Amino acid sequence: MKKLQIAAIQTHPEFGAVQANIDTALGLIPVGCDLAVIPELFNTGYQFTSKEEALGFAENLTGDDPGPTCTRLTRFAGDTGTTVVAGLAEVCGDKLFNSAVLIRPDGSRDVYRKVHLFLDEKSIFTPGDLGFPVFQACGTTIGMMICFDWIFPEAARSLALAGAEVICHPSNLLLPWCQDAMITRCQENMVVAVTSNRVGTENRTGKPLTFSGRSQIVSPMGERLSTLDKDATGAASATVTILEKDKLFTPRNNLWSDRRLDMYRNSTD
Ligand code: ACM
Repeated sequence: MKKLQIAAIQTHPEFGAVQANIDTALGLIPVGCDLAVIPELFNTGYQFTSKEEALGFAENLTGDDPGPTCTRLTRFAGDTGTTVVAGLAEVCGDKLFNSAVLIRPDGSRDVYRKVHLFLDEKSIFTPGDLGFPVFQACGTTIGMMICFDWIFPEAARSLALAGAEVICHPSNLLLPWCQDAMITRCQENMVVAVTSNRVGTENRTGKPLTFSGRSQIVSPMGERLSTLDKDATGAASATVTILEKDKLFTPRNNLWSDRRLDMYRNSTD
C-alpha cells in the first residue's frame, strides 16, 4: 500500500499565450504534491484553425531537444519533486499528435499520443500510434489517456490490464457525461483516475466550444475524492491510497480472473 498526494489542475488557457498558460498551470499545483495532471493542450488552447497553425505550436517530445513547454515542465518537476502529466501538441517528423507527456523529477519523460480523436481534431492531428503504454513513476504504475478516449472502455481497460494503478486523463471535455462515466471506468478496472479538465469558451472558427470543468480524482471503488466546479480554475487534490493489485471487487469476484473471454466479442463481424 502506498499513499500519493495527487492534484488535478483545472485551467482557463488563453489561446496562443503559451508562457502565460504554463505560468498559470504551474502556479496552481499544490506544494508537496507527488503527481499533478494538467489539461489537454494546456499551453496553447484547443481550437486550432488549421494543421499549419497547430504545427507552429507543436513541440518535439521524444528527442534530445525538447521544446519550451517541456523544458519548463522538466525544470518544475526537478525543483519541486512533483511528477507532472500535461497535454500538448507534439510534432514527430511530418506528423502532429495530440499528446500527453509524463515528466519525472529526475528529468526523464514518457509520451502518450491520443488514440481516439474527437470531431475536428481529425482535421488537425494524426491518431496516436503508441497504443496504451504504462510507465513507472512516483512509486506506482501510471497510464495516460486523453479526453475523448473515455468513450471507449477499451482505453482504460487496456491500461489497467497493462498494470496501471493510476490513470492520468488530461482533457478538454465538451460533452457533460465523461465525469460520471469515469466513475464506472474506475470501478470496472479498480484504478484511480485523475481527470484534469479546462473551463471557458473558445470561438476561433465560428463554432463556439464551452468546456465543462468538473475536474476530479476518483478512487478504485468509484468514490469522488475531490472535484472542482464547472467554471472556476483551481486544483482538486487528494491523498490517494494505491491498493494491492489483487482486483478483488468482492471477496468472491476478481475483476481479471472472473472475465469470460470465451463469451465476449471483439468486433461487429
Ligand atoms: C476532446 O476529446 N477534447 C473532447
